Amino acid sequence: MIKIQWDKKFELGHERIDFEHRIFLDLIKSVSQLASDKERALRLLREVEKYAEFHFISEENLMLDTGYPDYSSHKEEHQILLATLKEKSFEYRHDQLSLEELSDFLFQWFALHTTQVDSKLTQYISR
Ligand SMILES: [Fe+2]
Repeated sequence: MIKIQWDKKFELGHERIDFEHRIFLDLIKSVSQLASDKERALRLLREVEKYAEFHFISEENLMLDTGYPDYSSHKEEHQILLATLKEKSFEYRHDQLSLEELSDFLFQWFALHTTQVDSKLTQYISR
């Protein structure tokens, strides 16, 4: 299993985004620790889904407010992520995916999107 923990590279220098990302990672970590309690893991996964939706809207509003030029593609990326998250949750719920596989997916998803997509947004905002 991949070690789920905060890393310096996730720090994007935008207080609000970093704060929300920390909570998001904390949720992922909590889910990953619930291997022996599927009912609870599923409940928490629901929280991850809702939090992701909230956080994406939060970022999208920030993009609109700052006139971010890559708004459309970043928003599309969010929609794809949410769809994939729902798919993976479904698979986990129906025993087609282990909690470990799900947790690895969530963490990789978080790490990749934060360092490759969100970092462009925070660079633009702080230019
Ligand atoms: Fe984003």
